[in-house]
Amino acid sequence: MGEHPILVLDQLNVSYGESLILRDVNLTVPSGRVACLLGRNGVGKTTTLKTIVGLLRSTGGSVNFDGANVNRWAPEKRTKYGIGYVPQGRDIFPMLTVEENLMVGLQACSTGRGNGIPREIYDLFPVLKSMLGRAGGDLSGGQQQQLAIARALLGEPRLLLLDEPTEGIQPSVIQEIEQTIVRLKQQGTVSILLVEQYLEFAWRLADLYYVMEKGSIVSHGLTKDLDEATVKKHLTV
Ligand SMILES: Nc1ncnc2c1ncn2[C@@H]1O[C@H](COP(=O)(O)OP(=O)(O)O)[C@@H](O)[C@H]1O
Ligand SMILES: [Mg+2]
Repeated sequence: MGEHPILVLDQLNVSYGESLILRDVNLTVPSGRVACLLGRNGVGKTTTLKTIVGLLRSTGGSVNFDGANVNRWAPEKRTKYGIGYVPQGRDIFPMLTVEENLMVGLQACSTGRGNGIPREIYDLFPVLKSMLGRAGGDLSGGQQQQLAIARALLGEPRLLLLDEPTEGIQPSVIQEIEQTIVRLKQQGTVSILLVEQYLEFAWRLADLYYVMEKGSIVSHGLTKDLDEATVKKHLTV
């Protein structure tokens, strides 16, 4: 495992109004690793990611990123400091072109790279290069997902949060997204927290897993040790 954790959630509690959604969540992403957060619909996975990026405030416990308690930081500051986020449903700007969507990501880059989209992005996502002038909304679901990941990477994140990147996407494109994550892993510059319901995908990519049920982590460990009984009990419908 990586020597020091890039992300530590410590006894995190989050509520919507009166209802407590996350209960004492402890979760660690070691530096340079891929961790997955698994669980059925409605257990609190998206809430967890939103709290890490600062779109929701915790009511107890802490979010620690690269050694800093970021609880009171605004989302923009967290982005600049290196937390990249690809929301569930992708959330690209449908009326902007692919290039304009990418430029939005570039603006989040703290090193002020400024001078256009770097070539590595098109190496990772060749499909985007041929579509720069197209409206984001005209892309297929899979292409939009790739655009959303590319946009997040342009901020040069040290931690990338992916919320169900395979949701509603055809198998051939799922494979491409998997390859992209494998390459990111090999490059070793970004750690990843992956929320997934597609178990095999998470299994192949993640070094460690967390299983959530009703806002609590009920099982965690190395992905290679994730057993059939745990899957049956907490993940299959
Ligand atoms: N804006 C909201 N206001 C109130 N309750 C919400 C809101 N968003 C989500 N919830 C509730 O919080 C729980 C966790 O939701 P979510 O984090 O989206 O689950 P998951 O991503 O695991 O499917 C669910 O019970 C959901 O109904
Ligand atoms: Mg969700």
